[in-house]
Amino acid sequence: MDGFGTDCHATTVGFTVLTINPRGDDGTVGSGPSAPVLELRHVAKSFGHVVALRAVEMRVYSGEILALVGDNGAGKSTIVKILAGVYQPDDGEIRVRGTVVRRMNPRMAGLSGISTVFQDLGLVETLDVATNMYLGQPLTRFGIFAKRAAMYRGAAITLRDLQVRVPSVRIPVAELSGGQRQSVAVARAILVDHPIVLMDEPTAALGVRETRQVGKIIDNLKDMGKAVVIVSHDLEFVLEHADRVQAMRLGSVRGVRRRRDFNREEIVGLITGLVAGDDPSQARGDHLEVRS
Ligand SMILES: Nc1ncnc2c1ncn2[C@@H]1O[C@H](COP(=O)(O)OP(=O)(O)OP(=O)(O)O)[C@@H](O)[C@H]1O
Ligand SMILES: [Mg+2]
Repeated sequence: MDGFGTDCHATTVGFTVLTINPRGDDGTVGSGPSAPVLELRHVAKSFGHVVALRAVEMRVYSGEILALVGDNGAGKSTIVKILAGVYQPDDGEIRVRGTVVRRMNPRMAGLSGISTVFQDLGLVETLDVATNMYLGQPLTRFGIFAKRAAMYRGAAITLRDLQVRVPSVRIPVAELSGGQRQSVAVARAILVDHPIVLMDEPTAALGVRETRQVGKIIDNLKDMGKAVVIVSHDLEFVLEHADRVQAMRLGSVRGVRRRRDFNREEIVGLITGLVAGDDPSQARGDHLEVRS
């Protein structure tokens, strides 16, 4: 049996089949219907004199899309990188399914079921599309060269299923357009079938058709019962897809609301400081956060 081929097939089929299943029925995510699958408590992070995050609270639940919004430098990518284990917080806790993760690192993030699309995409320019998609996965350690054909087939099937158009999975990422690279990064994040998916500006370089496609992918991930965090400057996209919106300003959480309780003007007001945010001293209380 071909390990690569089987895995690719399972992932691809899983994506298709699970989209028509009710969410949360795979038993792999969440520790109860109302328990956050992923949580930040009182997280702080500074880079030298720059305070990137202060006392940040965040809760993400299975089967929902949480959007993180805020101006440039508000701390959104720092949150994503802390959850992905790229940065260590100076203070506070990360909890996955209720359990504190003391030293999150990229490997631990993977083991915790966290998959990430970084704002800078994290693709290796000189490697081809398929190799980028499978890079860092445990399967690659078991003889990527012996299983290249299956890898290329798997990458091609996954991209086709996601309606991502690239000239070939055998060309180096350096030869792709910005939008194609972004689509490959999104495809790579969902290929591993993790229950928690973080996407930092997944549509920044995309055209209308591709943005709509990523929106569909995100909605599908939610329907599969996954917890999805998207960072986006595109408020229309956020209002169309997110269940809850967390507004950040200057490293602090200024408000968390169900999407239907937020309008565009209030979000813009919170992220620009024109609307007073929720009392930060209350930020740890559950009442700040209203689930749909
Ligand atoms: N590696 C780093 N070294 C020094 N400062 C950093 C580093 N990463 C982030 N910062 C600083 O931390 C703050 C938050 O940055 P972050 O990238 O999280 O913002 P962001 O909300 O993602 O912004 P954008 O919308 O522009 O992507 C900024 O002031 C930034 O300059
Ligand atoms: Mg950013």
